Amino acid sequence: MERKEFLNLVGISVGAIILQNCISGCSKAADPAPALVPPVTPPTTGGGTTTVSGLTGNNSLAKGAIDFSVDITKTDFETLKTNGQAVVSGDVIIARTKAGDFLVVEKACTHQGTTVDFIADNSTFKCSNHGSIFDASGSVIKDPATKALKKYSATFDSAKNILKVI
Ligand code: FES
Repeated sequence: MERKEFLNLVGISVGAIILQNCISGCSKAADPAPALVPPVTPPTTGGGTTTVSGLTGNNSLAKGAIDFSVDITKTDFETLKTNGQAVVSGDVIIARTKAGDFLVVEKACTHQGTTVDFIADNSTFKCSNHGSIFDASGSVIKDPATKALKKYSATFDSAKNILKVI
């Protein structure tokens, strides 16, 4: 092997080693720490939570006509003390508008049954599945749903903090 050939070979080898160290060093430095998986936050304006404490009567369509009362001072319904919030209970979603009025509609989107969420900013109900939107009376304002959500009568006794739904 000629001297020049030898030096070229050594130079390439040293360069390769330096490059390899740099790459491995760089990749270690660039590797991010394992990402923390954020906790799943349940929706505050609807979602799939079913509540029972503070409930009197029937909120299940399978058991007959919807006819119940909720005590909004009880833990499962106390969210409703705050305007702009909602809870799902049985087969309905109970929403309190930003103005403090109560709206109660069936929770299942009439398109394919996904539980709707309450959008407090404009008092609508939105399905996250395919984007249907229903107004405060349950009527469809955006498809693909074509049938209105059934709306129930809601009467609030502010002295007793009891909401009656039929
Ligand atoms: S299930 Fe609600 S829009 Fe399709």
